[in-house]
Amino acid sequence: MEKTPNRTLITTALPYANGPVHIGHLAGVYIPADIYARYLRMRGREVLMIGGSDEHGVPITIKAKAEGVTPQDIVDRYHAIIRDSMAGLGISFDVYSRTTSELHSQTASEFFRRLYDKGEFVEKTSMQLYDEEAGQFLADRYVTGECPHCHAQGAYGDQCEKCGTSLNATDLINPRSAITGAVPVLRETHHWYLPLDRWESRLREWILEGHKEWRSNVYGQCKSWLDLGLQPRAVSRDLDWGVPVPVEGAEGKVLYVWFDAPIGYISNTKEIRPDDWEQWWKSPDTRIINFIGKDNIVFHCIVFPAMLMAYGDGYQLPDNVPANEFLNLEGDKISTSRNWAVWLHEYLRDFPGKQDVLRYVLTANAPETKDNDFTWRDFQARNNSELVAILGNFVNRAIVLTHKYCDGRVPDAAGALTDTDRAALAEVTDLRDRMADLIEGFHFRDALRLAMDIARTGNRYLQETEPWKTVKTDPARVDAILYTALQICGALAVVMEPFMPFMSERLAAMLSMTRLDWDAAGSAGILAPGTALGSPELLFDKIEDEQIAAQTDRLARIKKENTLKAWHPEPVAEPVDFDTFCRGDLRVGTVTACVKVPKADKLLQLTIDDGTSEPRTIVSGIAAWYAPEDLVGRQVCFIANLPPRKLRGIESQGMVLSAIDRDGRCVVMGPTAPVAPGVRVQ
Ligand code: MF3
Ligand code: ZN
Repeated sequence: MEKTPNRTLITTALPYANGPVHIGHLAGVYIPADIYARYLRMRGREVLMIGGSDEHGVPITIKAKAEGVTPQDIVDRYHAIIRDSMAGLGISFDVYSRTTSELHSQTASEFFRRLYDKGEFVEKTSMQLYDEEAGQFLADRYVTGECPHCHAQGAYGDQCEKCGTSLNATDLINPRSAITGAVPVLRETHHWYLPLDRWESRLREWILEGHKEWRSNVYGQCKSWLDLGLQPRAVSRDLDWGVPVPVEGAEGKVLYVWFDAPIGYISNTKEIRPDDWEQWWKSPDTRIINFIGKDNIVFHCIVFPAMLMAYGDGYQLPDNVPANEFLNLEGDKISTSRNWAVWLHEYLRDFPGKQDVLRYVLTANAPETKDNDFTWRDFQARNNSELVAILGNFVNRAIVLTHKYCDGRVPDAAGALTDTDRAALAEVTDLRDRMADLIEGFHFRDALRLAMDIARTGNRYLQETEPWKTVKTDPARVDAILYTALQICGALAVVMEPFMPFMSERLAAMLSMTRLDWDAAGSAGILAPGTALGSPELLFDKIEDEQIAAQTDRLARIKKENTLKAWHPEPVAEPVDFDTFCRGDLRVGTVTACVKVPKADKLLQLTIDDGTSEPRTIVSGIAAWYAPEDLVGRQVCFIANLPPRKLRGIESQGMVLSAIDRDGRCVVMGPTAPVAPGVRVQ
């Protein structure tokens, strides 16, 4: 394990303030960063955890346009929701600021200006996509099209979310304006570019040679971009929302959001550390760790480092960029625009007091090495059969038994431990040490599994030592057993704190612990003999089926709405010649009788007067939409010259015409005024 310097600057990707945060953000960035920050603080290291809202960029202006409000209205609304809900989940930012702050705009302008003055940009005139209907240039998320690399549809003008490649809008195949849907035209404009190619060999050396320990997803993405060869990247945009480009002749131009947003990490550090912010960025004794999702890798590993190198002045590059993969929701990609998400502020409303359950589930199922899926069933199962049945149960048994047999005090039995007791405590110490290595290596999911193993060890220990039986024969032995069990509870309060801080605080209070000392957790004995315990409270309670059903019902409604919204008419079929078409004989008939086909849920058997002396039988799969009596007396159109077909032993002599609506509902077709049975439809 590499030596960890005393000072660590933890940055967390600044979420766009175009919507609330959801479980994907939490699992990808904020929960892992918070675990890491809390762990380091507990170990006595100096930490700053930086957060804030990313309030510029096209995602904001698109949302504002959609709602007919100003971008400022949007960011004010969502910044507050995000800030408050993150606090509600216990994400322990040292600062949560915003990129519309005055300090940020100064910092970002100054940064640009210095690069400009140093000749670090190239200024280029080029043809850019322009939406004539909207009267504006299209860049970034204002334009979508086919990815030139992986050929996915719906790639954005700055990035393909499918393969992660960073793009220029003009690279897209079949681009379309996201504002009007129009096909853009090319129009001339000029911009400032950061020539990433100038930094390519230094980036290669820094990452490919110097950081082989990075996660393979991060290292691999960096390697494939570097191998493709880096291009100059525009760092300004023709937009009216953002930090104005601080040079002459730049009216109507703002900094590209991915230029200003990462500088937000610096601005927000300045905001809370006006006097010593520089040591957090420029001292080699500070380690910088960027927590991000995988779609942010190129910006944090290539673009921002190139900006920092170009700026010089001692800025340090990140030590690690532990990017997570994506979390899906019930099998589908999480999406703010499609409302396919579990929103944090709604979770906190629907599950009050259960912050730790969400933190637990999202860590136990974290997408650290591959995309993962969140399901409400898994959430319920992990709560009921892990948190309640393993952790809560162990702690509750230990504390209740202490009240019952030992007067509610930690027994004075440290000197009377047997090999069994010492072995259990040594196991806890060993798990704690392995957890530390895992957390320092950013393997939070595995670390949490070991923390739960400590609770499992505790349960197994009580099961083996059976104090409820021993009490009848050897009460002194019970003291040693409960002493040991309580030390394990104390260890749990410590090692769980980074993961489940609310639970840890309650547990520590029940155990009358005044401080959480990592090194004392386990064999060292963390609870002093004689300590009076508080009264036992349940740490977790069961989540019932109804609560889960309310959530899955909500998702089912959203899925239905989305299907309706996404519906569009099928393209019209290849032309057929008139004679061919006329060979299909369509007629009108009157339904004279109708019954359900026995043992076939979907089928109705219709008897139709088609104008001949013989009634015609047609079997049709419309039973889900019509009761037999609804159809009797109605006129329907049918195809009269199909070869008869046997369905469930009934010969069907034709097919009733119907339309299938967007939601799958079937509507039978008939004339709008009565006609004689047997007339042709033409
Ligand atoms: N707002 C970006 C996103 O949600 C992340 C910005 S991270 C920063 O993808 F580095 F630019 F701050
Ligand atoms: Zn792609």
